[in-house]
Amino acid sequence: MRTRELLKLHNTGHPGINSLFAKAHSADWDFENDVDWRLPVDPDDSLVAHGWAAYGKTPTFQALPEPVKIHATRRAVGRMLNILQVGESVAQNVCAKLVLTLREEDYRNHAAAQAMDEARHHLAYCRFIDAMDEEVEDIDSGTEMMFDALLSMNDPLELIATEQFFLESFAMSIFEGLRQDATHPLLRRILELITRDESRHMGFGVLYIAEWMRRQPADRRIAFARQWMGQILGSLMDRPGPIMLARLVRRLHDAGVADAEVLAPQLLREQHEINAAELAEAASGVKVPHLLKSARRAGLLEPEILEALHLSSQPLIRGALRGSAETASHD
Ligand SMILES: [Fe+2]
Ligand SMILES: [Fe+2]
Repeated sequence: MRTRELLKLHNTGHPGINSLFAKAHSADWDFENDVDWRLPVDPDDSLVAHGWAAYGKTPTFQALPEPVKIHATRRAVGRMLNILQVGESVAQNVCAKLVLTLREEDYRNHAAAQAMDEARHHLAYCRFIDAMDEEVEDIDSGTEMMFDALLSMNDPLELIATEQFFLESFAMSIFEGLRQDATHPLLRRILELITRDESRHMGFGVLYIAEWMRRQPADRRIAFARQWMGQILGSLMDRPGPIMLARLVRRLHDAGVADAEVLAPQLLREQHEINAAELAEAASGVKVPHLLKSARRAGLLEPEILEALHLSSQPLIRGALRGSAETASHD
């Protein structure tokens, strides 16, 4: 890029996107002073309620001795925080690339502000992991491959669709779940502050995609929705299964449960029932997942698109449309 290209930067004038930059300042927080890092993180503290982790709500897990449950839950928390801390660094890279690639003043400004948020989130998660004072489990290869794919992208639409629109909507449900179930006040506080920033990031993704969709002919809108609705529905239906179970069995072993494998089929059966109940709840529209809310707000759930993709009667989508219609009528 040359100076001449920066001399008269064009602002799209989008009021929503321009206001995100102002909000990044008014809702700013200080990583050192707004979090009380003096709070101790005891080694025998599970940090979140046992029901948070995969299989944590099953009667078989609940019946295990308390020290075993603490070990398993804490390992699950450590693993998740490790994924989140590296995910923040990935997001920071994406934002840095967006600043260098985008030509619109307001889009660039949002990306610059988001890069600073992500730097702060990374520091907060890492500092909490340090306070836990234990080796955390490595990230899994699926997550690593997904991050690698994102890091290799260069096209702004692809970057924003993947990071701000898809991943940050997906992560929002993780942050909310962790924040609700966190029993440690320091962890809860960090998540509260981070979630506030993340909703702004997700907001940018939705507004950017909505603007892009508005300008596209029907066939491109449908092609875009086909790609992303596949990802969205796939990730919503991906519930704890055998891979998560293998991880739990290993943790139970580490905690001294000699016959952990014997419990496996029962845990799987019980978790299946929980998965089915949670999907039924999402289909009822009582609680619409962030991914589907973002899809609706960005224009991916418009009737002509759903018809073209044969998704008009898909239970989760019907639930999302029913849920948002009810929310709108209460506004
Ligand atoms: Fe973040
Ligand atoms: Fe973010």
